Amino acid sequence: MIEVTVSDSMEQGTNRTVGPVASEKTLGSVYVDNPRMTARNVDVFYGDKQAIVDVSLDIGSSQVISFIGPSGCGKSTFLRCLNRMNDTIDICRIDGEIKIDEQDIYDPVVDVVSLRARVGMVFQKPNPFPKSIFDNVAYGPRIHGLAATKVELDQVVESALHRAGLWTEVKDRLDQPGTGLSGGQQQRLCIARAIAVSPEVILMDEPCSALDPIATAKVEELIYELREQYTIVIVTHSMQQAARVSDRTAYFHLGKLIEVGDTKQVFTNPMHELTQDYITGRFG
Ligand SMILES: Nc1ncnc2c1ncn2[C@@H]1O[C@H](COP(=O)(O)OP(=O)(O)OP(=O)(O)O)[C@@H](O)[C@H]1O
Ligand SMILES: [Mg+2]
Repeated sequence: MIEVTVSDSMEQGTNRTVGPVASEKTLGSVYVDNPRMTARNVDVFYGDKQAIVDVSLDIGSSQVISFIGPSGCGKSTFLRCLNRMNDTIDICRIDGEIKIDEQDIYDPVVDVVSLRARVGMVFQKPNPFPKSIFDNVAYGPRIHGLAATKVELDQVVESALHRAGLWTEVKDRLDQPGTGLSGGQQQRLCIARAIAVSPEVILMDEPCSALDPIATAKVEELIYELREQYTIVIVTHSMQQAARVSDRTAYFHLGKLIEVGDTKQVFTNPMHELTQDYITGRFG
């Protein structure tokens, strides 16, 4: 009888002889049934300094996953790998494999601009373009030719602003500069800009850290609602936020993915001592 290993069954139908297997060091469930993205054995180096060590992780479809861990543990680095944002850093090198819907995103045939439309990003500090509210949201659809007429473009912009929970606040001043909005509104504008190109995945790196509690609550509500349509990866230093918005939580420590699992389990019954220490405030 032939013993079928996880790696064998994972690689059925591909030409690989040796398939990438998830790191055995991570505790919890690295795999999900319905992954939108998969990362396998990812190492990231800045020059000769290694920032991510052998990380394997599935990002589930229509779910929110949060990345938590102490400062400098590699959360942003790993997040940026998911839409090749690290390509812009000369000294950054990535090994391993990251796929979206079975497509290797580091394959040379992949067009990075199209990839970033599929895997959008929202940054820590709201960064609207120095353009009108309308043009901020219309920017992506224009570049990617997603609207053939002005009427269609209007519809795309309105729909994105609706989904970002901002429409009623800005509908009468679409021609005014995006930078004139409050911080929380600017962040929702950036989310509207990201969703205007209908991405499959939205990456958010501490999206609320520059916002007050009311704006934070609005953005959190929005993240919670958006997960029905999108796959969301959020980096956060707020464990309350991770607990409120995410289905799964991944705990990073010194470049390694220590543990990943259902958010409730990670926060109430962590498997690893390092996770336990972090969530109880003993470390970080
Ligand atoms: N552009 C860069 N050049 C060189 N080293 C970098 C660069 N960006 C990050 N690093 C290093 O990689 C490691 C991981 O950094 P990263 O920013 O991913 O951590 P983080 O978990 O997001 O931290 P924080 O919570 O403070 O945002 C750190 O040691 C950091 O100094
Ligand atoms: Mg960071």
